Amino acid sequence: MVDLSLSEDQQAFQKIARDFLDNEVVPHRAQWDRDERVDTAIIPKLGELGFFGLTIPEEYGGLGGDYITYCIGMEELGRADSSVRGIVSVSMGLFGKIVLDHGTEAQKQEWLPGIATGEKLGCFGLTEPDTGSDAGNLRTRATRNGSDWVINGSKIFITNGSWADVCIVFARTGGPGPKGVSAFLVPTDTPGFIREEIHGKLGLRGQVTSSLTFEDVRVPDSAMVGQEGGGFKIAMNSLDKGRVSVGAGCTGIIQGCLEAVVDYSTTRKQFGRQLASFQMIQDMIAQISLDADAARLLSWRAADLIERGLPFSIEASKAKLFASEKAVDAANMAIQVFGGYGYVDEYPVQKYMRDARVMTLYEGTSQIQKLLIGRAETGVNAFL
Ligand code: CAA
Repeated sequence: MVDLSLSEDQQAFQKIARDFLDNEVVPHRAQWDRDERVDTAIIPKLGELGFFGLTIPEEYGGLGGDYITYCIGMEELGRADSSVRGIVSVSMGLFGKIVLDHGTEAQKQEWLPGIATGEKLGCFGLTEPDTGSDAGNLRTRATRNGSDWVINGSKIFITNGSWADVCIVFARTGGPGPKGVSAFLVPTDTPGFIREEIHGKLGLRGQVTSSLTFEDVRVPDSAMVGQEGGGFKIAMNSLDKGRVSVGAGCTGIIQGCLEAVVDYSTTRKQFGRQLASFQMIQDMIAQISLDADAARLLSWRAADLIERGLPFSIEASKAKLFASEKAVDAANMAIQVFGGYGYVDEYPVQKYMRDARVMTLYEGTSQIQKLLIGRAETGVNAFL
Protein backbone atom coordinates (compact mmCIF):
# COMPACT_ATOMS: atom_id res chain seq x y z
CA MET A 1 0.00 0.00 0.00
CA VAL A 2 1.26 3.49 -0.84
CA ASP A 3 2.23 5.38 2.30
CA LEU A 4 1.01 8.95 2.30
CA SER A 5 2.02 9.54 5.88
CA LEU A 6 -1.01 7.97 7.43
CA SER A 7 -1.45 8.93 11.06
CA GLU A 8 -0.70 6.34 13.73
CA ASP A 9 -4.43 5.90 14.34
CA GLN A 10 -5.09 5.35 10.63
CA GLN A 11 -2.26 2.82 10.37
CA ALA A 12 -3.46 1.04 13.51
CA PHE A 13 -7.00 0.85 12.15
CA GLN A 14 -5.76 -0.54 8.86
CA LYS A 15 -3.82 -3.29 10.61
CA ILE A 16 -6.69 -4.20 12.92
CA ALA A 17 -9.12 -4.21 9.98
CA ARG A 18 -6.90 -6.35 7.77
CA ASP A 19 -6.08 -8.88 10.51
CA PHE A 20 -9.73 -9.19 11.42
CA LEU A 21 -10.92 -9.59 7.82
CA ASP A 22 -8.13 -12.05 6.96
CA ASN A 23 -9.29 -14.24 9.84
CA GLU A 24 -13.05 -13.74 9.86
CA VAL A 25 -14.01 -13.10 6.24
CA VAL A 26 -11.36 -14.24 3.73
CA PRO A 27 -11.47 -17.95 4.75
CA HIS A 28 -15.28 -18.03 4.33
CA ARG A 29 -15.89 -15.79 1.32
CA ALA A 30 -15.93 -18.54 -1.31
CA GLN A 31 -18.49 -20.56 0.64
CA TRP A 32 -20.63 -17.48 1.33
CA ASP A 33 -20.51 -16.76 -2.38
CA ARG A 34 -21.68 -20.32 -3.18
CA ASP A 35 -24.39 -20.10 -0.51
CA GLU A 36 -25.54 -16.71 -1.85
CA ARG A 37 -25.44 -15.47 1.73
CA VAL A 38 -22.75 -14.32 4.11
CA ASP A 39 -22.99 -15.76 7.61
CA THR A 40 -24.85 -12.84 9.16
CA ALA A 41 -23.02 -13.48 12.45
CA ILE A 42 -20.26 -11.42 10.81
CA ILE A 43 -22.42 -8.27 11.10
CA PRO A 44 -22.23 -7.81 14.92
CA LYS A 45 -18.52 -8.67 14.79
CA LEU A 46 -17.95 -5.92 12.23
CA GLY A 47 -20.00 -3.66 14.47
CA GLU A 48 -17.81 -4.39 17.49
CA LEU A 49 -14.75 -3.38 15.51
CA GLY A 50 -16.39 -0.10 14.53
CA PHE A 51 -16.85 -0.60 10.78
CA PHE A 52 -20.48 0.57 10.91
CA GLY A 53 -19.63 3.72 12.81
CA LEU A 54 -16.43 4.79 11.13
CA THR A 55 -17.52 8.35 10.33
CA ILE A 56 -20.46 8.60 12.73
CA PRO A 57 -19.64 10.88 15.69
CA GLU A 58 -18.95 9.32 19.08
CA GLU A 59 -22.04 11.00 20.60
CA TYR A 60 -24.16 8.73 18.38
CA GLY A 61 -22.14 5.60 19.10
CA GLY A 62 -19.65 5.79 16.21
CA LEU A 63 -15.87 6.11 16.07
CA GLY A 64 -15.94 9.70 14.79
CA GLY A 65 -13.20 8.88 12.30
CA ASP A 66 -12.11 10.90 9.30
CA TYR A 67 -12.85 10.10 5.66
CA ILE A 68 -9.38 8.75 4.89
CA THR A 69 -9.93 6.20 7.66
CA TYR A 70 -13.29 5.48 6.04
CA CYS A 71 -11.52 4.84 2.71
CA ILE A 72 -9.03 2.56 4.45
CA GLY A 73 -11.91 0.59 5.96
CA MET A 74 -13.75 0.33 2.64
CA GLU A 75 -10.56 -0.72 0.83
CA GLU A 76 -9.88 -3.47 3.33
CA LEU A 77 -13.49 -4.64 3.06
CA GLY A 78 -13.29 -4.59 -0.75
CA ARG A 79 -10.07 -6.59 -0.67
CA ALA A 80 -11.70 -9.15 1.62
CA ASP A 81 -15.24 -9.42 0.23
CA SER A 82 -17.25 -6.78 -1.63
CA SER A 83 -20.50 -8.32 -0.39
CA VAL A 84 -19.48 -7.44 3.15
CA ARG A 85 -18.38 -3.99 2.07
CA GLY A 86 -21.76 -3.41 0.48
CA ILE A 87 -23.60 -4.27 3.70
CA VAL A 88 -21.51 -1.79 5.68
CA SER A 89 -21.27 0.88 3.04
CA VAL A 90 -25.01 1.11 2.36
CA SER A 91 -26.06 0.93 6.01
CA MET A 92 -23.56 3.46 7.30
CA GLY A 93 -22.46 5.40 4.24
CA LEU A 94 -25.76 5.89 2.44
CA PHE A 95 -28.39 5.45 5.14
CA GLY A 96 -26.51 6.58 8.27
CA LYS A 97 -24.88 9.58 6.67
CA ILE A 98 -28.24 10.84 5.39
CA VAL A 99 -29.65 10.76 8.90
CA LEU A 100 -26.50 12.42 10.23
CA ASP A 101 -26.33 15.14 7.57
CA HIS A 102 -30.04 15.85 7.06
CA GLY A 103 -32.00 14.31 9.94
CA THR A 104 -33.56 16.03 12.94
CA GLU A 105 -32.02 15.46 16.37
CA ALA A 106 -34.88 13.06 17.17
CA GLN A 107 -34.20 11.06 13.97
CA LYS A 108 -30.49 10.91 14.81
CA GLN A 109 -31.19 9.73 18.34
CA GLU A 110 -33.63 7.12 17.08
CA TRP A 111 -31.51 5.55 14.35
CA LEU A 112 -27.82 6.38 14.56
CA PRO A 113 -26.75 4.46 17.70
CA GLY A 114 -28.14 1.20 16.24
CA ILE A 115 -26.64 1.85 12.78
CA ALA A 116 -23.23 2.82 14.20
CA THR A 117 -22.90 -0.48 16.05
CA GLY A 118 -24.37 -2.72 13.37
CA GLU A 119 -27.28 -3.69 15.64
CA LYS A 120 -29.55 -2.17 13.05
CA LEU A 121 -29.16 -2.13 9.28
CA GLY A 122 -30.32 0.55 6.91
CA CYS A 123 -31.00 0.53 3.19
CA PHE A 124 -31.35 3.14 0.47
CA GLY A 125 -34.55 3.08 -1.59
CA LEU A 126 -33.98 5.15 -4.71
CA THR A 127 -33.81 2.90 -7.79
CA GLU A 128 -37.10 1.78 -9.32
CA PRO A 129 -37.93 -0.75 -12.04
CA ASP A 130 -38.42 2.04 -14.61
CA THR A 131 -36.02 4.68 -13.28
CA GLY A 132 -32.40 3.69 -12.68
CA SER A 133 -30.07 6.36 -14.03
CA ASP A 134 -33.02 8.73 -14.41
CA ALA A 135 -33.57 8.90 -10.67
CA GLY A 136 -35.22 12.33 -10.80
CA ASN A 137 -38.25 10.81 -12.51
CA LEU A 138 -38.98 8.16 -9.88
CA ARG A 139 -42.65 7.15 -9.55
CA THR A 140 -43.15 5.92 -5.98
CA ARG A 141 -45.67 8.34 -4.50
CA ALA A 142 -46.25 9.60 -0.99
CA THR A 143 -49.67 11.19 -0.48
CA ARG A 144 -50.58 13.31 2.50
CA ASN A 145 -53.37 11.86 4.67
CA GLY A 146 -54.11 13.94 7.77
CA SER A 147 -50.81 14.23 9.61
CA ASP A 148 -49.44 11.09 7.89
CA TRP A 149 -47.99 10.19 4.52
CA VAL A 150 -49.14 7.10 2.63
CA ILE A 151 -46.53 5.56 0.32
CA ASN A 152 -47.26 3.41 -2.73
CA GLY A 153 -44.82 2.13 -5.34
CA SER A 154 -41.79 -0.10 -5.70
CA LYS A 155 -38.00 -0.17 -5.64
CA ILE A 156 -35.51 -2.61 -7.11
CA PHE A 157 -31.87 -3.72 -6.62
CA ILE A 158 -31.85 -2.52 -3.02
CA THR A 159 -28.74 -3.64 -1.11
CA ASN A 160 -29.64 -4.88 2.40
CA GLY A 161 -33.33 -4.63 1.42
CA SER A 162 -34.52 -7.84 3.11
CA TRP A 163 -32.24 -7.55 6.15
CA ALA A 164 -32.61 -3.85 6.89
CA ASP A 165 -34.54 -2.49 9.87
CA VAL A 166 -35.16 0.81 8.17
CA CYS A 167 -35.13 2.26 4.68
CA ILE A 168 -34.69 5.79 3.43
CA VAL A 169 -37.46 5.88 0.82
CA PHE A 170 -37.44 8.50 -1.91
CA ALA A 171 -40.98 9.20 -3.02
CA ARG A 172 -42.82 11.77 -5.08
CA THR A 173 -44.76 14.26 -2.98
CA GLY A 174 -45.06 16.94 -5.64
CA GLY A 175 -44.96 17.44 -9.40
CA PRO A 176 -42.71 15.76 -11.98
CA GLY A 177 -38.92 15.85 -11.90
CA PRO A 178 -36.32 16.11 -9.14
CA LYS A 179 -38.06 18.95 -7.24
CA GLY A 180 -41.11 16.76 -6.54
CA VAL A 181 -39.16 14.15 -4.55
CA SER A 182 -39.06 13.86 -0.74
CA ALA A 183 -37.24 11.45 1.58
CA PHE A 184 -38.80 9.37 4.36
CA LEU A 185 -37.43 7.13 7.10
CA VAL A 186 -39.55 4.00 6.93
CA PRO A 187 -39.13 1.08 9.37
CA THR A 188 -39.26 -2.11 7.33
CA ASP A 189 -41.80 -3.70 9.69
CA THR A 190 -44.38 -1.05 8.79
CA PRO A 191 -47.56 -2.76 7.47
CA GLY A 192 -47.59 -2.86 3.67
CA PHE A 193 -43.76 -2.84 3.36
CA ILE A 194 -43.09 -5.98 1.27
CA ARG A 195 -39.59 -7.31 0.50
CA GLU A 196 -38.40 -9.98 -1.91
CA GLU A 197 -34.84 -11.21 -2.35
CA ILE A 198 -33.34 -11.12 -5.86
CA HIS A 199 -31.37 -14.27 -6.68
CA GLY A 200 -29.08 -15.29 -9.54
CA LYS A 201 -26.75 -12.29 -9.38
CA LEU A 202 -23.42 -12.45 -11.23
CA GLY A 203 -21.54 -11.13 -8.19
CA LEU A 204 -22.09 -9.70 -4.72
CA ARG A 205 -23.81 -12.99 -4.05
CA GLY A 206 -23.20 -12.94 -0.30
CA GLN A 207 -25.16 -9.76 0.34
CA VAL A 208 -28.90 -9.55 0.06
CA THR A 209 -30.32 -7.48 -2.79
CA SER A 210 -34.08 -7.02 -2.86
CA SER A 211 -37.08 -5.55 -4.53
CA LEU A 212 -39.38 -3.55 -2.27
CA THR A 213 -43.10 -2.92 -2.69
CA PHE A 214 -45.04 -0.32 -0.73
CA GLU A 215 -48.77 -0.93 -0.40
CA ASP A 216 -50.35 1.94 1.54
CA VAL A 217 -47.32 2.22 3.82
CA ARG A 218 -48.27 4.86 6.40
CA VAL A 219 -45.65 6.99 8.12
CA PRO A 220 -46.02 10.11 10.30
CA ASP A 221 -44.95 13.54 9.15
CA SER A 222 -41.95 13.23 11.47
CA ALA A 223 -40.58 10.48 9.16
CA MET A 224 -39.72 13.04 6.49
CA VAL A 225 -36.01 13.83 6.22
CA GLY A 226 -35.19 17.39 5.26
CA GLN A 227 -37.71 19.60 3.51
CA GLU A 228 -40.65 18.51 1.38
CA GLY A 229 -39.31 18.45 -2.20
CA GLY A 230 -35.70 18.25 -0.96
CA GLY A 231 -35.32 14.48 -1.32
CA PHE A 232 -33.53 14.39 -4.67
CA LYS A 233 -30.73 16.64 -3.47
CA ILE A 234 -30.37 14.48 -0.35
CA ALA A 235 -30.10 11.39 -2.58
CA MET A 236 -27.51 13.02 -4.86
CA ASN A 237 -25.48 14.37 -1.96
CA SER A 238 -25.34 10.99 -0.26
CA LEU A 239 -24.50 9.23 -3.53
CA ASP A 240 -21.52 11.57 -3.88
CA LYS A 241 -20.18 10.15 -0.63
CA GLY A 242 -21.24 6.65 -1.61
CA ARG A 243 -19.15 6.95 -4.76
CA VAL A 244 -16.05 7.59 -2.66
CA SER A 245 -16.83 4.36 -0.81
CA VAL A 246 -17.20 2.47 -4.10
CA GLY A 247 -13.89 3.96 -5.29
CA ALA A 248 -12.14 2.82 -2.12
CA GLY A 249 -13.82 -0.59 -2.23
CA CYS A 250 -12.71 -1.06 -5.84
CA THR A 251 -9.18 -0.08 -4.79
CA GLY A 252 -9.42 -3.04 -2.42
CA ILE A 253 -10.40 -5.32 -5.31
CA ILE A 254 -7.43 -4.12 -7.37
CA GLN A 255 -5.12 -4.52 -4.36
CA GLY A 256 -6.48 -8.03 -3.76
CA CYS A 257 -5.83 -8.90 -7.42
CA LEU A 258 -2.29 -7.55 -7.12
CA GLU A 259 -1.51 -9.63 -4.05
CA ALA A 260 -3.03 -12.72 -5.65
CA VAL A 261 -1.05 -12.41 -8.92
CA VAL A 262 2.22 -11.64 -7.13
CA ASP A 263 1.80 -14.67 -4.90
CA TYR A 264 0.76 -16.98 -7.75
CA SER A 265 3.29 -15.80 -10.33
CA THR A 266 6.21 -16.12 -7.94
CA THR A 267 5.32 -19.68 -6.92
CA ARG A 268 3.92 -21.19 -10.14
CA LYS A 269 6.38 -22.47 -12.73
CA GLN A 270 5.91 -22.98 -16.46
CA PHE A 271 8.62 -23.84 -19.00
CA GLY A 272 10.87 -24.43 -15.97
CA ARG A 273 10.68 -20.81 -14.81
CA GLN A 274 8.64 -18.74 -12.41
CA LEU A 275 5.62 -17.18 -14.10
CA ALA A 276 6.84 -13.85 -12.72
CA SER A 277 9.95 -14.08 -14.89
CA PHE A 278 7.91 -13.67 -18.08
CA GLN A 279 7.74 -10.12 -19.37
CA MET A 280 4.09 -10.36 -20.42
CA ILE A 281 3.15 -11.42 -16.89
CA GLN A 282 5.11 -8.51 -15.42
CA ASP A 283 3.36 -6.16 -17.83
CA MET A 284 -0.01 -7.14 -16.32
CA ILE A 285 1.30 -7.00 -12.76
CA ALA A 286 2.75 -3.54 -13.32
CA GLN A 287 -0.55 -2.31 -14.72
CA ILE A 288 -2.52 -3.65 -11.76
CA SER A 289 -0.02 -2.12 -9.32
CA LEU A 290 -0.24 1.26 -11.04
CA ASP A 291 -4.05 1.17 -11.07
CA ALA A 292 -4.18 0.29 -7.36
CA ASP A 293 -2.12 3.38 -6.51
CA ALA A 294 -4.05 5.68 -8.85
CA ALA A 295 -7.46 4.44 -7.64
CA ARG A 296 -6.40 4.86 -4.01
CA LEU A 297 -5.11 8.37 -4.57
CA LEU A 298 -8.27 9.45 -6.40
CA SER A 299 -10.43 8.13 -3.56
CA TRP A 300 -8.26 9.74 -0.91
CA ARG A 301 -8.34 13.06 -2.76
CA ALA A 302 -12.15 13.06 -2.65
CA ALA A 303 -12.03 11.99 1.02
CA ASP A 304 -9.63 14.80 1.84
CA LEU A 305 -11.96 17.34 0.20
CA ILE A 306 -14.87 16.01 2.30
CA GLU A 307 -12.75 16.38 5.43
CA ARG A 308 -11.95 19.98 4.55
CA GLY A 309 -15.58 20.82 3.78
CA LEU A 310 -14.83 21.56 0.11
CA PRO A 311 -16.84 20.54 -2.99
CA PHE A 312 -16.00 16.96 -3.87
CA SER A 313 -18.74 15.52 -6.08
CA ILE A 314 -16.78 15.54 -9.36
CA GLU A 315 -13.71 14.11 -7.62
CA ALA A 316 -15.98 11.41 -6.19
CA SER A 317 -17.28 10.63 -9.70
CA LYS A 318 -13.70 10.41 -11.01
CA ALA A 319 -12.64 8.10 -8.18
CA LYS A 320 -15.65 5.84 -8.70
CA LEU A 321 -15.33 5.80 -12.50
CA PHE A 322 -11.62 5.07 -12.54
CA ALA A 323 -11.53 2.57 -9.69
CA SER A 324 -14.54 0.56 -10.85
CA GLU A 325 -13.37 0.28 -14.47
CA LYS A 326 -9.85 -0.60 -13.34
CA ALA A 327 -11.15 -3.17 -10.85
CA VAL A 328 -12.81 -5.01 -13.75
CA ASP A 329 -9.59 -4.77 -15.77
CA ALA A 330 -7.44 -5.90 -12.83
CA ALA A 331 -9.62 -8.93 -12.13
CA ASN A 332 -9.67 -9.80 -15.82
CA MET A 333 -5.86 -9.66 -15.98
CA ALA A 334 -5.57 -11.61 -12.73
CA ILE A 335 -7.64 -14.42 -14.25
CA GLN A 336 -5.31 -14.36 -17.25
CA VAL A 337 -2.27 -14.76 -14.99
CA PHE A 338 -3.92 -17.64 -13.13
CA GLY A 339 -4.96 -19.36 -16.37
CA GLY A 340 -7.42 -22.22 -15.81
CA TYR A 341 -7.08 -21.90 -12.03
CA GLY A 342 -8.41 -18.38 -12.30
CA TYR A 343 -11.67 -19.70 -13.66
CA VAL A 344 -12.63 -21.80 -10.63
CA ASP A 345 -13.54 -20.61 -7.17
CA GLU A 346 -10.61 -22.23 -5.38
CA TYR A 347 -8.88 -18.88 -6.00
CA PRO A 348 -10.43 -15.45 -5.39
CA VAL A 349 -9.79 -13.80 -8.75
CA GLN A 350 -12.97 -15.00 -10.48
CA LYS A 351 -14.98 -13.64 -7.53
CA TYR A 352 -13.16 -10.33 -7.78
CA MET A 353 -14.18 -10.24 -11.45
CA ARG A 354 -17.85 -10.99 -10.77
CA ASP A 355 -18.02 -8.55 -7.84
CA ALA A 356 -16.19 -5.80 -9.71
CA ARG A 357 -18.62 -5.88 -12.61
CA VAL A 358 -21.51 -4.27 -10.74
CA MET A 359 -19.30 -1.44 -9.52
CA THR A 360 -19.48 0.12 -12.99
CA LEU A 361 -23.29 0.02 -12.72
CA TYR A 362 -24.51 0.84 -9.24
CA GLU A 363 -24.30 4.18 -7.45
CA GLY A 364 -24.30 5.70 -10.94
CA THR A 365 -23.06 3.93 -14.08
CA SER A 366 -19.71 4.76 -15.67
CA GLN A 367 -21.63 6.64 -18.34
CA ILE A 368 -23.41 8.79 -15.73
CA GLN A 369 -20.05 9.59 -14.09
CA LYS A 370 -18.60 10.61 -17.47
CA LEU A 371 -21.58 12.87 -18.16
CA LEU A 372 -21.21 14.48 -14.72
CA ILE A 373 -17.50 15.07 -15.36
CA GLY A 374 -18.22 16.29 -18.89
CA ARG A 375 -20.89 18.69 -17.59
CA ALA A 376 -18.48 20.08 -15.01
CA GLU A 377 -15.74 20.58 -17.61
CA THR A 378 -17.89 22.11 -20.36
CA GLY A 379 -20.83 23.66 -18.55
CA VAL A 380 -23.07 21.81 -21.02
CA ASN A 381 -25.75 19.53 -19.55
CA ALA A 382 -26.07 16.28 -21.51
CA PHE A 383 -29.00 15.08 -19.38
CA LEU A 384 -31.51 17.55 -20.87
N1 CAA B 1 -25.56 17.26 -4.61
C1 CAA B 1 -26.58 18.11 -4.27
N2 CAA B 1 -27.51 18.53 -5.18
C2 CAA B 1 -27.42 18.05 -6.43
C3 CAA B 1 -26.39 17.15 -6.82
C4 CAA B 1 -25.44 16.78 -5.86
N3 CAA B 1 -24.45 15.94 -6.18
N4 CAA B 1 -26.56 16.86 -8.12
C5 CAA B 1 -27.64 17.53 -8.54
N5 CAA B 1 -28.16 18.26 -7.52
C6 CAA B 1 -29.29 19.17 -7.57
C7 CAA B 1 -29.13 20.17 -8.69
O1 CAA B 1 -28.41 21.30 -8.24
C8 CAA B 1 -30.54 20.51 -9.07
O2 CAA B 1 -31.06 21.44 -8.16
P1 CAA B 1 -31.55 22.91 -8.65
O3 CAA B 1 -32.59 22.63 -9.69
O4 CAA B 1 -32.05 23.58 -7.43
O5 CAA B 1 -30.33 23.55 -9.24
C9 CAA B 1 -31.29 19.21 -8.82
O6 CAA B 1 -30.50 18.45 -7.90
C10 CAA B 1 -31.51 18.42 -10.08
O7 CAA B 1 -30.22 18.17 -10.62
P2 CAA B 1 -30.02 17.69 -12.14
O8 CAA B 1 -30.71 18.66 -13.04
O9 CAA B 1 -28.59 17.44 -12.33
O10 CAA B 1 -30.86 16.35 -12.14
P3 CAA B 1 -31.08 15.29 -13.30
O11 CAA B 1 -32.46 14.80 -13.25
O12 CAA B 1 -30.55 15.85 -14.59
O13 CAA B 1 -30.18 14.06 -12.82
C11 CAA B 1 -28.28 12.60 -12.75
C12 CAA B 1 -28.87 14.03 -12.84
C13 CAA B 1 -26.83 12.86 -12.57
C14 CAA B 1 -28.52 11.80 -14.01
C15 CAA B 1 -28.87 11.84 -11.54
O14 CAA B 1 -30.19 11.46 -11.77
C16 CAA B 1 -28.03 10.64 -11.18
O15 CAA B 1 -27.01 10.74 -10.48
N6 CAA B 1 -28.44 9.42 -11.64
C17 CAA B 1 -27.81 8.20 -11.22
C18 CAA B 1 -28.59 7.61 -10.10
C19 CAA B 1 -27.75 6.68 -9.28
O16 CAA B 1 -26.57 6.90 -9.03
N7 CAA B 1 -28.40 5.64 -8.80
C20 CAA B 1 -27.73 4.74 -7.95
C21 CAA B 1 -28.74 3.95 -7.21
S1 CAA B 1 -28.40 3.73 -5.55
C22 CAA B 1 -27.55 2.30 -5.42
O17 CAA B 1 -26.95 1.80 -6.33
C23 CAA B 1 -27.65 1.88 -4.02
C24 CAA B 1 -27.25 0.53 -3.65
O18 CAA B 1 -28.05 -0.21 -3.07
C25 CAA B 1 -25.84 0.18 -3.79
